[in-house]
Amino acid sequence: MTVTEPTAPATEAGHRIVLEAAGVTMRFGGLTAVDDVSMQVREGEIVGLIGPNGAGKTTFFNCLTGMYIPTEGRVTLNGETLPPKPLKVVRAGMARTFQNIRLFANMTALENVMVGRYCRTSSMALTSILRGPKFRREEAATRERAQELLAYVGLAESAEILARNLPYGDQRRLEIARALATDPQILLLDEPTAGMNPKETEETMHLIFKIRDSGLAVVVIEHDMRFIFNLCDRVLCLVRGTVLIEGSPGEVQSDPRVIEAYIGGDDDEEEDQ
Ligand SMILES: Nc1ncnc2c1ncn2[C@@H]1O[C@H](COP(=O)(O)OP(=O)(O)OP(=O)(O)O)[C@@H](O)[C@H]1O
Ligand SMILES: [Mg+2]
Repeated sequence: MTVTEPTAPATEAGHRIVLEAAGVTMRFGGLTAVDDVSMQVREGEIVGLIGPNGAGKTTFFNCLTGMYIPTEGRVTLNGETLPPKPLKVVRAGMARTFQNIRLFANMTALENVMVGRYCRTSSMALTSILRGPKFRREEAATRERAQELLAYVGLAESAEILARNLPYGDQRRLEIARALATDPQILLLDEPTAGMNPKETEETMHLIFKIRDSGLAVVVIEHDMRFIFNLCDRVLCLVRGTVLIEGSPGEVQSDPRVIEAYIGGDDDEEEDQ
């Protein structure tokens, strides 16, 4: 009698693992950029990834998103192993932004977001060649959704501006809108506030909270510690490819090894470890 009670699935919210990386290792010749890194991200969580320059943060993202095939390890989304192909990863429900902004510079803001949407429509196929009614319907829906997403990230007024003419902070926001256009369950952000002023950084923090509140899991790479510790539920600190510490913002913030990793991390200054 109670089998169909609608409350059943909701009790799992916040506990279900969306993304799991197990023992991910990435070697480039003799250099091990990512060394046996494991991470779990649960529904509704914001996880921070910090670490000094060259620690392997972006390389780890590249392993998660199918840009690199990890030398070792496994990445699963909702329990399914991810194929190491970026488009397939996007279709499976994981979207990202890039440390070095990758927009179509000569397309408008709106068109950039529409491009993100195409992985969910059939418009790349025969319908777009024939340009029949189905294509026009999809195109109109895509345009409408893209406009909504621009408004969502605070760029409603910039729809017709070419991406290359947008201020830097707006370009970062536009990348987020394009990533959201793919309907992800998890969003990976690589330095979303780099180059932003304090006001834009604050707005970005609220945007990420809003995205989380809409049901997505988020993983954020950032060097701005104030931003990371105010934003995240959990933080991993990577140093030379390995996880130095994982914990709550409070735990990570107060761990002397983290500060040492940032200010004193040269090999020749360290004792054997
Ligand atoms: N395609 C590649 N081929 C060879 N080495 C690479 C490649 N990509 C990254 N690396 C190396 O891997 C290491 C980790 O680089 P990565 O860009 O992941 O660091 P990061 O933590 O993102 O640094 P930053 O904070 O500066 O962005 C560096 O030593 C880098 O030079
Ligand atoms: Mg990086």
